Amino acid sequence: MPTAPQDTASTRVLPAPSLRAGSAKTSPVRDLLALTRRPEVISFAGGLPAPELFDVDGIRAAFDAVLDSPGVLQYSTSEGDPHLREEVARRYTADGLPTDAADLIITTGSQQGLGLLSTTLLDPGDTILVEEPCYLAALQTFALAGARVVGIPYIGDELDLAALDRLAEEHGPKFFYTVPTFQNPTGRTHGLEARQAIAEIARRRGFRIVEDEPYRQLRYSGDPLPSLAELAPEHVISLGSFSKVIAPGLRIGWIRTTADVRPAITIAKQAADLHTSTIDQAAAAHYLVSGRGEPALDRIRNAYAARRDAMLDALPSALPSGSTWNRPDGGMFVWARLPEGWDATESLAHALTKDVAYVPGLSFYCGTPDPRTLRLSFTTYAPDRIRDGLSRLGATWGAGR
Ligand SMILES: Cc1ncc(COP(=O)(O)O)c(C=O)c1O
Repeated sequence: MPTAPQDTASTRVLPAPSLRAGSAKTSPVRDLLALTRRPEVISFAGGLPAPELFDVDGIRAAFDAVLDSPGVLQYSTSEGDPHLREEVARRYTADGLPTDAADLIITTGSQQGLGLLSTTLLDPGDTILVEEPCYLAALQTFALAGARVVGIPYIGDELDLAALDRLAEEHGPKFFYTVPTFQNPTGRTHGLEARQAIAEIARRRGFRIVEDEPYRQLRYSGDPLPSLAELAPEHVISLGSFSKVIAPGLRIGWIRTTADVRPAITIAKQAADLHTSTIDQAAAAHYLVSGRGEPALDRIRNAYAARRDAMLDALPSALPSGSTWNRPDGGMFVWARLPEGWDATESLAHALTKDVAYVPGLSFYCGTPDPRTLRLSFTTYAPDRIRDGLSRLGATWGAGR
């Protein structure tokens, strides 16, 4: 609960911050994670793309080119740069989801998309459903909107679809928030049958789906799956982002929205920041048209695939015997579970004494956390460094109960 400054002889007590601001969840492992910033620490905790894979020359060329165009340093429209929207729409359509530029609103990262959808779709006290565990900053955004957040559990690596159906009936949610492909934090992907079932439940129970897809293009194995928007076009609002496939510093994302809520989202966008940076949007559009994006993304995929494999190969000797973990087909994360009786937060303190770190899973739960879970990111380091870090991790468990 936030507190107001104390009254003194010369000042009056100031009003406290809003209850909603006070209710947003901060990570209980923040202090431990602050220690991961020491340069000697090999940290599998962050979810950062590898900076050496950013196409710096291509992005610089795009900014240089657009600086000569009229208007790139001027105010612009709230919906976003028309060329950028056309390019993103063209990519959706080529990927099997017919999309018009008019269906898209450019946002300052997909994180802003989450905020705009919360503003547009939620009143304080409304219930929404999320996967449990769930992307932490989405939970924060929903808390700031005053939402009641109900988690849908997994059974093994599969979403509990019967629970989704039952909880949808019980709560009448405004929407179900899902990261269907290579989820953060678990790396899990809903298979075709699960997607079809989610779409069917949404139609039958009458709720929207907010489909957040920043990792969709980071696939290293397995076949692509249809998006939920393809399966239930009237019910799904999709979020996309260039953060993981070009660079997060661009802060360019988008909302692909159904027509009924588009005007309200546009007004929310206008109220939030008028529009996303004109020059950044123009440079992103130029970069897409330049054709440099695909080879750069291939380099990213190849490097991350090798890093994922290095992590999966080393995990058997890095985690205590009896641990389990998944083998994601893409994205940035592996989700692991320690054996009975172990606690991933306590063990992180021991790992840090060996200069290695991960994120305990408990930060990602809206309900009762599983203290044995942890998230490991495999994108930040080259394979040798991953092996080095995981061998350090293997040395921590003797003391790590
Ligand atoms: C699931 C998910 N959604 C949204 C975001 C925010 O991405 P952006 O950089 O586009 O704001 C992230 C970032 O890690 C994420 O993992």
